[in-house]
Amino acid sequence: MINPFREDLVSRNLPEACSIVIFGATGDLTHRKLIPALYNLAVDGELPSGVRIIGVARRDWSDEYFREELKRANQKVSRTGHDEAVWDSLASSIFYHCSEFQDKEGYDKLAKRLSEDDRARGGKGNRLFYIASAPEYFDDILLNLKEAGLNREQESGWSRVIVEKPFGTDLGTAQHLNEVVNGTFEEKDTYRIDHYLGKETAQNIMVLRFANAIFEPMWNKEHIDHIQITCAEHFGMEGGRGGYYDKSGALRDMVQNHLLQLLSLVAMEPPTDLSADGVRDEKVKVLRSLRQWDTPELVGKNVVRAQYLAGNINGDEVPGYREEERVNPESLTESYVALRCLIDNWRWSGVPFYIRMGKRLPKKATEISIHFKETPTVLFNAMPGGVPGGNVLVIRIQPDEGISLRMNSKLPGTTLRLEPVKMDFHYSTSFGKSSPEAYERLLADAMAGDATLFARRDEVEEAWRFVDHIERAWHDTRTPPMMAEFPAGSWGPREADELLARDGKTWRRL
Ligand code: BG6
Repeated sequence: MINPFREDLVSRNLPEACSIVIFGATGDLTHRKLIPALYNLAVDGELPSGVRIIGVARRDWSDEYFREELKRANQKVSRTGHDEAVWDSLASSIFYHCSEFQDKEGYDKLAKRLSEDDRARGGKGNRLFYIASAPEYFDDILLNLKEAGLNREQESGWSRVIVEKPFGTDLGTAQHLNEVVNGTFEEKDTYRIDHYLGKETAQNIMVLRFANAIFEPMWNKEHIDHIQITCAEHFGMEGGRGGYYDKSGALRDMVQNHLLQLLSLVAMEPPTDLSADGVRDEKVKVLRSLRQWDTPELVGKNVVRAQYLAGNINGDEVPGYREEERVNPESLTESYVALRCLIDNWRWSGVPFYIRMGKRLPKKATEISIHFKETPTVLFNAMPGGVPGGNVLVIRIQPDEGISLRMNSKLPGTTLRLEPVKMDFHYSTSFGKSSPEAYERLLADAMAGDATLFARRDEVEEAWRFVDHIERAWHDTRTPPMMAEFPAGSWGPREADELLARDGKTWRRL
């Protein structure tokens, strides 16, 4: 009998024991995301025994001090709370390795330490290097790993690398980093993090589309009027983020990666299989089909950038973007961006995709809404109130993860009036347990050798190509700076409303 399961797919998601070496171990990401993710994998019984965690950083910390710091952080942020017994067992596998990122000797010592440890414990020599340092050290770390031979597969083990964001600051720097990464690790062993891909709801986009017969036949230009992707955040530049953010801006910080990834998942063709390349081949085609806004005029017409002014969020007075700590008072960096994208392929020709992202909006919420075309204007349009709009399918990425469908219904009563109603699915009530954090899934996948939820080299570069044109137009000194403004706590600038109004559409109210 033919085995209906492909070996590679069946064996997915079985993480293998390995040494996880985290560069930038004293940083925020390690404390707030990586260690809590590993802890919660342990709670769920998904962390293979034999996993060792070695934190590398410059500060002169001991194993004990490192563990204590991590424990304090885990107690504060862990998804499932903090259980001393689980923590103690995890902590006994956590170690600290003090080294400068440029210091070759530190890598030789690390190599020695890893092989001695493998020999002592009978480990296979599997290594997962996680580069979570400041981006200026990415090159040094990769080159030194290579010099120390740590990039090479051991006799029976593998060697993989996870690279955190930001993956470059434009196409040129991303290409350079890709050269360095791929000069050190093979592409199959390279895992570029985009934590949005690890979110449960982002993973569900493919299931919604390809495991339900009712949506896919309608998922095209014949039936869909337009699509909106919104990522709103209520916070601003707290915790000293202004320094990083002011050099980046909303477009580079979130659109180039997270939001274009969501767009690819929504717009891609069905992949031939669920292998990493099967899925990524389809996603990258979407990015390649994005119409390029490659002149200042096109950027002016299709992209709005803005900054928040002082305002009020949930009763709190907050400063304007340019008054934030570590932000240049004359900054021309956008804290908000709205864009109209067109995908020039057979399925989506003529269907606009609108993306908006902003800090200091009224709340934190990320969602994708699919706006279907309206019914023909016969029958109910003559009734009082007419038809109150087309169907809208909303995929709530966060918070309150779920999916809802807006439909029109008859209002009970003796006259015929139509009212929109909602069919609503909430993860929390349907499945009764919290979804794993994105980093849990991504770390487990990297240990299992499954790169589906990581960005491939060509995806990253295509996304930068699109973003670069816009950045170039914004920094073109011959064109006036097109920077709109809006009070913090509102839903963005008037110009973003006008962007949709020109197409006869409005932003969905969240
Ligand atoms: C990060 C950005 O990649 O994603 C931040 O640098 C942003 O600016 C964050 O706030 C949002 O992530 P999440 O998971 O909280 O939506």
